[in-house]
Amino acid sequence: MGESPVPFVLPPDALRGVGSRPFGVYVHVPFCATRCGYCDFNTYTAGELGSAASPESWLDGLRRELDLAAQLLGAAPPADTVFVGGGTPSLLGADGLGHVLDAVRSSFGLAPGAEVTTESNPESTSPEFFAGLREAGYTRVSLGMQSTARHVLTVLDRVHTPGRPTRAVAEARDAGFEHVNLDLIYGTPGERTSDLRASVEAVLDAGVDHVSAYALIVEEGTALARRVRRGELPPPDDDVLAEDYELIDSMLSAAGLRWYEVSNWAASEAARCRHNLGYWLGGDWWGAGPGAHSHVGGVRWWNVKHPARYSSVLAQGHLPVAGQERLTGDDRKLERVMLELRLAEGLPLDALDGDGLRQAEQAVSDGLLDHAAAAEGRAVLTDRGRLLADAVVRRLVA
Ligand SMILES: C[S@@+](CC[C@H](N)C(=O)[O-])C[C@H]1O[C@@H](n2cnc3c(N)ncnc32)[C@H](O)[C@@H]1O
Ligand code: SF4
Repeated sequence: MGESPVPFVLPPDALRGVGSRPFGVYVHVPFCATRCGYCDFNTYTAGELGSAASPESWLDGLRRELDLAAQLLGAAPPADTVFVGGGTPSLLGADGLGHVLDAVRSSFGLAPGAEVTTESNPESTSPEFFAGLREAGYTRVSLGMQSTARHVLTVLDRVHTPGRPTRAVAEARDAGFEHVNLDLIYGTPGERTSDLRASVEAVLDAGVDHVSAYALIVEEGTALARRVRRGELPPPDDDVLAEDYELIDSMLSAAGLRWYEVSNWAASEAARCRHNLGYWLGGDWWGAGPGAHSHVGGVRWWNVKHPARYSSVLAQGHLPVAGQERLTGDDRKLERVMLELRLAEGLPLDALDGDGLRQAEQAVSDGLLDHAAAAEGRAVLTDRGRLLADAVVRRLVA
């Protein structure tokens, strides 16, 4: 396990203003039934954990962490948004996820109209599960669909059948969920344009109000990376990824889902994920659970990763913080450009320094930043700029 907790305090200037900025709570559920070969998230199967940790010991730890967190933040602000992610939160069942939300209620409390999301894997959901989530107070569900092509799901090691995610969406909507997201992955080796088109059509037929689409990343240390290294699978091709992105964007926009962040589309302003907007706009959030990251007033910290270590440190009455860093003014500027430039609203040009401004002018001439938005003082990616978002960021902060 190897990680030792570090003593943790938040300096008074980081605490100043807590409550006047939007405040989110992220809860990390570190359990999955099986591991998908492309995924390097902090998650464990029951076989990997053995008797060292369980959903029960994790929930005990979580309750303790949230109580300590609310004490540390002083006049703890109620959560404007809660996001339970993973891992596979749906493995906890509706009752378990109800206990998680109760723990947030009894520590921070929920602000009126709070957005409360849980991620779920299609195969561990049912009509009763969604009804239970509604009753517990969840307002939004995010389901990992990835693709409707069986051979793509096989390469990704997904265990659900191609039709299950859209049936799960129908069940969630029948249970009263207005806000439902589907995640797609594109660029999987062997995926044809017709496979991707069929996946996006299925997303649109399902009638969700939010879509996240991610280019497949071959993460070091994963089974997928080993297969690519052995030559069993080709790595994703940048030109194909760009064409895939254009196809997804054109199909979603034609159906009224507009991009509001490079990888995220929503049917209306109310359908945008407020929790993620909090991350992208530099808000405060407490990330609870093994390996979770937090940010309050320019201080960032992260928890020990292993669930057994997490629970044992909390059982001793300490926060399970493995490391922390204070962002310098330059770090915060860089971060702001990296995150806000990916938003459809873009970034105010006055957030850039002299070199950055000159680069922004050049990016407008190169067709990567929008001309009219720049004239109004904002750096907004064009359609072509979105395909090269990371490169544009690098230019503006070089
Ligand atoms: C980490 S999962 C957690 C939620 C849930 N277990 C699931 O699989 O949907 C959240 C999303 O991250 C995305 N993801 C994870 N690893 C990825 C990778 N290597 N490349 C692209 N997307 C990835 C997937 O789209 C997935 O739906
Ligand atoms: S992609 Fe989701 S289900 Fe698959 S291992 Fe990662 S967290 Fe678990």
